[in-house]
Amino acid sequence: MMVLEGPSGELFLRMDERLARFIIEPSDDVGNEDIAIGWECRGEKAWDETRELLTKRGFDADPVEPVAWCRDSFVCRDPSGFQCEFFYGGAIEPIRNFVSPTGVTFVTEDQAMGHVTVLTPTYEDSVDFYEGILGFHLRESINTSIRASFLSPNLRQHSIGIVASEGPRQLAHVMVEVESLDSVGRAMDQCIEGAAPMTVSLGRHWNDHMTSFYLRTPAAFEVEYGYGGRTVDRATWARVEQRGIGGSSFWGHQIVRDDGSLGPQVGRVSG
Ligand SMILES: [Fe+2]
Repeated sequence: MMVLEGPSGELFLRMDERLARFIIEPSDDVGNEDIAIGWECRGEKAWDETRELLTKRGFDADPVEPVAWCRDSFVCRDPSGFQCEFFYGGAIEPIRNFVSPTGVTFVTEDQAMGHVTVLTPTYEDSVDFYEGILGFHLRESINTSIRASFLSPNLRQHSIGIVASEGPRQLAHVMVEVESLDSVGRAMDQCIEGAAPMTVSLGRHWNDHMTSFYLRTPAAFEVEYGYGGRTVDRATWARVEQRGIGGSSFWGHQIVRDDGSLGPQVGRVSG
């Protein structure tokens, strides 16, 4: 990603022509509860309607001071307490062309910036917030000893994964997708050479078909770095449901232990 300094000293990370796709601000929170998730509305009308809808359902939708990266935004806490920033008119940077320092191209535009996966103790309410109130499309669910739902408002197979958890809410990971498998392999090589701890080995998810690995950021959440995710036609999509003891992947995605050895596949219930 390309790094710019924002107007108040925050870091803007660019993935495309947008001024910022990630915004990093200093914080004392190491449990990543302070994280805000941005949801882009198609325009002012959709943004207004979203705000009205949330207010009508009893959520506080508070206006935000003008920011550099969009025309207008408001914040609203989802049932787990994650701050959601609803915005429209995302700012572009027309003068400084996006140039990746490692030469990668990210898959964004009508699939937005990727997906987030959150762990939450308020699983049912959270799924209802994103599906029942906001109208995201429920694409997959897992109902084994793990309960999880995958939803999206756009073409991406999922933009949010919601996983039931007994602990406090937590951002598990953010997924970004690149246009080449070689870019994933090269990033993995960098991790093996010590650039950042790799937490999940290369593998391919059965739900979004993403070939990816995971690394830990200094802020404790993980980044899933992937290639080849599938898109979904909402009109013809038929949801499937995982049963049995299977993990979250066709192959790979083993847990990388601190000593570098590999553990069971992520999400596998036994073994
Ligand atoms: Fe993911």
